Amino acid sequence: MTAINDPALIEAFRGAGHVVVLTGAGVSAESGIATFRDALTGLWSRFNAEDLATPEAFDRDPELVSRWYDERRCKTMACEPNGGHVALARLQAGMEAAGRKFTLITQNVDRLHQRAGSRDVLELHGTLHVWRCVGCGEAKLESGPAFTEFPPKCSCGGNRRPGVVWFGENLDGGVLNAAADAAQRADLFLTLGTSSVVHPAAGLIDVALGAKAKVVEVNLQPTAYSKRVTWSLRAKTGEVLPWLVDKALAG
Ligand code: OAD
Repeated sequence: MTAINDPALIEAFRGAGHVVVLTGAGVSAESGIATFRDALTGLWSRFNAEDLATPEAFDRDPELVSRWYDERRCKTMACEPNGGHVALARLQAGMEAAGRKFTLITQNVDRLHQRAGSRDVLELHGTLHVWRCVGCGEAKLESGPAFTEFPPKCSCGGNRRPGVVWFGENLDGGVLNAAADAAQRADLFLTLGTSSVVHPAAGLIDVALGAKAKVVEVNLQPTAYSKRVTWSLRAKTGEVLPWLVDKALAG
């Protein structure tokens, strides 16, 4: 019997009072958005993170860095949520309608979860869609076409940067605390489409395991957690989540 046919897996969904989900770039891969570490197609296989994803890189070459992030912002706006995003939004709506709790934590900066209908998403690594001034700190939602100046300027004259967390920067403390608190209280924890190598995000899986939650992993490849979780499924999230959520909500 493969894990997906295990009746206990569906029972775990139906019996959970609080489902907590951690997503990574793999969940958006079927929408056409590049992951980070997949060989050949991953962003960090094709670009050097130190040239693009650090505060030092932005200080050194704000034009290059802001162009790269603005291209990614425009690319994500041209992509659509896939079946995995939609299934998670459906699971949240179904659980909350039944008075149960659901928390979605994402490492993704593309906002496809929100576009699929997910609410109160905890964005651990920020978002490409809010840019803030490095001078006065003013933050603004950006949903228009590509910028015309790089870096874009604030009305105070300062350079504006994407609202993502770069290497060497701290995560937002409030968001991280809320995520850790949810992981601690989860009955069922899903880790989806993440290589689980970036901390503190991956540490949330340890928190859930330590709190004796049942843990489901969905990934095309094994990760360092595959042998420790309750169920590890080798599958595409966009294919398996609609099926699982149908079963979970049918009870
Ligand atoms: P990675 O690129 O490290 O991992 C993506 C994972 O998704 C891999 O383990 C793939 O096997 C898996 N995968 C790919 N397509 C899939 C699919 N259709 N269904 C299921 N699994 C699939 O991306 P993250 O783990 O999200 O940080 O990376 C974590 C962080 O590292 C990112 O948030 C980013 C990056 O540097 C920041 O930007 C701060």
